[in-house]
This record gives sequence, structure tokens and C-alpha cells, in this order.
Amino acid sequence: MKKAKIIYFSASGKTQKAADFIESELKKIDFKSETIALNGEKKIPEIDFCNESIIYFGTPTYMWHTPAPVKKFIKELKNIEGIPFGLFCTFGGVTTGSNLSWILRQLKKKNARVTGALKLKAEHSMMFKGGSPLEKGKPDDNDIPMIKKFVARSTEKALDTDSELKKIPGIMQYFSFLSPPAIGSKMMPKIKFSPEKCTGCSACIQACPTNNIFLTEKKADRQNNCIKCYRCVEVCSTSATDADLISTEKLLNLLSKIPENRSEVY
Ligand SMILES: Cc1cc2nc3c(=O)[nH]c(=O)nc-3n(C[C@H](O)[C@H](O)[C@H](O)COP(=O)(O)O)c2cc1C
Repeated sequence: MKKAKIIYFSASGKTQKAADFIESELKKIDFKSETIALNGEKKIPEIDFCNESIIYFGTPTYMWHTPAPVKKFIKELKNIEGIPFGLFCTFGGVTTGSNLSWILRQLKKKNARVTGALKLKAEHSMMFKGGSPLEKGKPDDNDIPMIKKFVARSTEKALDTDSELKKIPGIMQYFSFLSPPAIGSKMMPKIKFSPEKCTGCSACIQACPTNNIFLTEKKADRQNNCIKCYRCVEVCSTSATDADLISTEKLLNLLSKIPENRSEVY
């Protein structure tokens, strides 16, 4: 039986949903797949790539870039020479910027072979006053044909050792310098913590995708790996963790008009 691994990072579940769709498409073409979530990993897991026909790798897009924990994982990957990869990223309907092209370049440096890529629109996961205005409920069953095409194309090309994707098309990757992650993160609403309101329920600890929150004297305590996904704010029932959310609906609606706001398979 042909085998595949699906590795992904997902802060709020949309990339996980895409990974689930990929898993069920693989099953339909007789692939046995194993899924590995990178969320909350304290240390990069040791992964054996040798016995797989293809590796699928998925990530959300943050500020037109690859999120920091994913960059770290990709940089530390070893023993992937000649291994075929299918790359997928989700994005909130604005742009994927340099996300997939950055990953493709890193994998090429390690002599891996990217045989397909998917950019998939998903509900915008940033927390705004009034909720997320973009791509509500996505990805959904309407995306299955596109995921099928991605899986068919990437598995077929994986069999041909001369076949690889040289570049991820798209103009916006050349403009992602306009949105440097460090500045973007500083502009986003600060996450505030009021220890007196904290009941030590651990909901934020469970929700944090970067394993950044610990319990110290029964209160949530933060380290320096926050990626500003606001999952901790979302799950806190006592508002001990809170943020002055801004209404960015107008700005986001405007940004979603820029080119490359479509799902695409390469
Ligand atoms: C901090 C942050 C930055 C984001 N930046 C972008 C972006 O540059 N472009 C975009 O289209 N969506 C952006 N999004 C939306 C996410 O990429 C999108 O909702 C993604 O599907 C979330 O995946 P997840 O649920 O697997 O974490 C951002 C979301 C967050 C929280």
C-alpha cells in the first residue's frame, strides 16, 4: 500500500480541516496516511520520511508570511533529499504573500522535491471586534474538488523523479516585505492578562498552539513564543486574558481586493 504523511501547524483549526480533507482524498486513492500536528510541540518531533510516497505539509498564513514556529520546523528538517512534498497553506482571503514560496525555497535547498501546492481560502482567524468578516465557515465541502485535484496532481508527479514545482506563481510574494512579521505583530492588539481574574482553569494552556503558557502558582504565565493568534483570548471564560480588539473590517475588506485572493492548485 502507498503511504503518506500529513504534517501541519494549525492555530485555530482551519489548516487542520484542510489536512482532514487531504487525508480522506488520499484514502480514496488507496494511500495509507499518518497525520502529525506540530501544535504545542515543545521540541521538533523526529520524523522518518524514508518510507513515504509523499509528504504533505500545511500551514496558515500570518501577515503574508510563514508563521514563526513553522519556519523553525522547516529550517530544522533533516534527511529529506529526494522526498516528494505537497505543500498546502490556508489564508483568510487576503493573500498568501511569500508563505509557500519561502517553504519551497527552503525545501529545495535541502534537495527535497515539491510536486504540488495548494493555496486554500479559510475563515480569517484574526480576532476582531465584531468577529471575522472574511471567508466565514471556509474551508468547506465546496473545496473538495480542488483538494482532490491537488492530491491527484501531487501524487502523480511524486512517481516521476524528474518532476518538481520550480516556483510558486504569484506576484504578492514579491511584496511581502511591505508586511514584515515583527512590525505586523507589534501593530496587533496587545494581549492583556489580569492575574486576579484567572481561575487557573488551563483552557488557555490547552488552546495555545505554541505551548507558550504555563501554570505558575495556579495562574497562567506566558513565555516569549506568542504568535498573536488570540486563541487564549477566545477561550478565556473570565476575561483574565483579554485584548483591546480593533474593528479592522473595512481594512480587511479592502485588502481582500488585492490580487491573489483566490484558492489555487499548482
Ligand atoms: C496573526 C494572523 C495573521 C494573519 N495574516 C494573514 C494574511 O497575511 N493573509 C491572509 O489572507 N490571512 C491571514 N490570516 C488568516 C489566517 O491565515 C487564516 O485564517 C488561516 O486559515 C488560519 O489557519 P489555522 O486555523 O489553521 O490557524 C492571519 C491570521 C492571524 C491570526
